[in-house]
Amino acid sequence: MVNRSRRRFLWKGVGSTVALAAGTGLYTWRIEPHWVEFVERVLPIVNLPQALAGRTLVQLSDLHVGPRVDDDYVLGVFDRVRALAPDIVAFTGDFTENHRWMAAHARRVYSRVPVGRLATVGVFGNHDYGPDWRSPELAADLVPVLADCGIRVLRNEVVDVAGLDVVGLDDLWAKRFQPAVVLAYRNAAKPALVLSHNPDTADEPGWLGYEGWILSGHTHGGQCKPPFLPPPVIPVRNRRYTSGEIDATGGRRLYISRGVGHSLMVRFNVRPEVTVFTLQRA
Ligand SMILES: [Fe+2]
Repeated sequence: MVNRSRRRFLWKGVGSTVALAAGTGLYTWRIEPHWVEFVERVLPIVNLPQALAGRTLVQLSDLHVGPRVDDDYVLGVFDRVRALAPDIVAFTGDFTENHRWMAAHARRVYSRVPVGRLATVGVFGNHDYGPDWRSPELAADLVPVLADCGIRVLRNEVVDVAGLDVVGLDDLWAKRFQPAVVLAYRNAAKPALVLSHNPDTADEPGWLGYEGWILSGHTHGGQCKPPFLPPPVIPVRNRRYTSGEIDATGGRRLYISRGVGHSLMVRFNVRPEVTVFTLQRA
């Protein structure tokens, strides 16, 4: 009798454990990768023109449009961003999981992108350079596609947005990151904001004294992490650069988005993110 009830108790325990593991797996695979969080923050910028104070900038990062990310999910995020009527939309890399036949797919999705009232700009990430980050021709193919959709890709270039310099730096792993070529020719007294896919770039040489914000992505926040602990796997040298706001070297300040998409379709305790900044005079 005692044995039988003990056995029943053990089987119940096994059943609960299996159900919990299956539920967690299902959540990690089917729910959290598409449970996007809209994070609202202020972005204080030194000498910001008065006309830009209170304007909104939406950062979209790491969409990874391609075979691993559901197009309908991305288009749903686009619709929600469009409803906010942002003034600036800024992409911080990995527009795509780029490969030889990607341009047509990218055109289909990005033709429905929300554009900013003042500007829609972005930079490339390593995945835009193909599976091994070494296919500059694939990234080059994306430039006109994105331009047709209203997105200007900045490749170590600067664009003036109502008196604010938006500096877009090209990707580090694709060996295209060249901050000095753009920073040397801008008026350092002018307010600025930098877009750079990989947060490790904050520690690279070539900033020529730039102090200010760098909006980044690349890490996806690690995609999966245990509660109260850092993510075990992140693709950066500087392991402080996980997600959110972080002080970098040289007076630079990073904001690292957890990204919208994913490389593998798993997320646990690291929800995808759209960041809605309100510009403010520092
Ligand atoms: Fe990415």
